[in-house]
Amino acid sequence: MDGVTDAPFRRLCRVLSGNRMGLLVSEFVPTDGDAVFNVDGHKQLRFFPEESPFGVQIFGRFPDKMADAARKIAVSLKPDYIEVNAGCPAPKVAGKGSGSGLLRDLPRLQEILHDVRAALDGCGVDLPLTLKCRIGWDSDSINVMETLAIAEGEGVEMLTVHGRTRLQGYNGLADWNWIGKVAAAAKIPVIGNGDVNSVARAFDCIENYGVAGVAIGRGAMHNPWIFGAIADAWEGKPARVITAAEALDVFKLYYGFKIEDGSTDKGAEGRLKQLAARLCKGFCLDERREARDERGEGQGPGAEDVAMQVRQSLLSSSCAAELLDRAQSLKEGLAKDLVFDPDRLVNLNGAKETELKFGDQFKGR
Ligand SMILES: Cc1cc2nc3c(=O)[nH]c(=O)nc-3n(C[C@H](O)[C@H](O)[C@H](O)COP(=O)(O)O)c2cc1C
Repeated sequence: MDGVTDAPFRRLCRVLSGNRMGLLVSEFVPTDGDAVFNVDGHKQLRFFPEESPFGVQIFGRFPDKMADAARKIAVSLKPDYIEVNAGCPAPKVAGKGSGSGLLRDLPRLQEILHDVRAALDGCGVDLPLTLKCRIGWDSDSINVMETLAIAEGEGVEMLTVHGRTRLQGYNGLADWNWIGKVAAAAKIPVIGNGDVNSVARAFDCIENYGVAGVAIGRGAMHNPWIFGAIADAWEGKPARVITAAEALDVFKLYYGFKIEDGSTDKGAEGRLKQLAARLCKGFCLDERREARDERGEGQGPGAEDVAMQVRQSLLSSSCAAELLDRAQSLKEGLAKDLVFDPDRLVNLNGAKETELKFGDQFKGR
């Protein structure tokens, strides 16, 4: 995720999952802007050997520029795969014909895949090519089956389908029935994507929609332990309870990773708050505390209030150091009776479904 899953964030998820992440992919890397693509000019291209298997995702609308970027990335950085993005809905990307804009111009998408594949074949580095797409531009033009056929014809080896249209943006829910139809028709592995925010949902999607796997985006911003939790369930291990104290310690860890990666203090503060805003929504009152309340042994504010106070305290910090200090004192104070409960994170948009306006944000753009 652009602006989120940089190397330090991926490292955080990797450490919290005990190195059981599956496939990783970079933030998307632009190829249109540069007169000549230069691998040193894109901070999104930083990744580390321990992240393998790691893919670099590129976006753009010019086949020659996409091919040139893919070749240079393959030769000098040697990731494990190259992915083309046909999913980004942002007006500055899709509106210009790249990202999900390619879904309105499938011949161009085909040309891009063809030229990128040829560039990879021609450069002596044998890398798989993968594609990430949405189900279509809007509900009147769902064309994910055509996208699949083009992808397979051009030698794409894995397709990740985000089950929303471009017009939906991130609103409403992903349509997993479409993802299931693609998976059933595909000869290549199909990875389903959209709203996988819990262990139960990940298993439900894998068991019921025929996908080879699931891709998790915003779920990791709410719950950076999610990969480890899925791996635990996969390995038959019991679910682990994460205390608020353990969750609050994550900020120090993340801060250290950001600074080690060369971030400014201000940059690190922004990322800590980005994480805090989402993660704190998972805090709820510890069962033992609820049991105490039921027995009339303690009143205090309700779980929602306490969780929101913790969130507010972190978000209103004036700098990273203050946020980390507050996280420390919250552990012994306000947050001591809280646990992190990932099942509270039912809506990744952070808003109630009824409050969401379907596709309004991108209408006409
Ligand atoms: C802030 C943000 C940045 C994103 N950047 C990318 C990106 O660079 N490449 C990409 O393929 N998808 C990107 N996405 C989309 C996600 O990968 C994913 O397809 C989408 O959020 C739905 O999955 P989820 O419900 O698991 O989040 C981004 C999403 C968000 C919220």
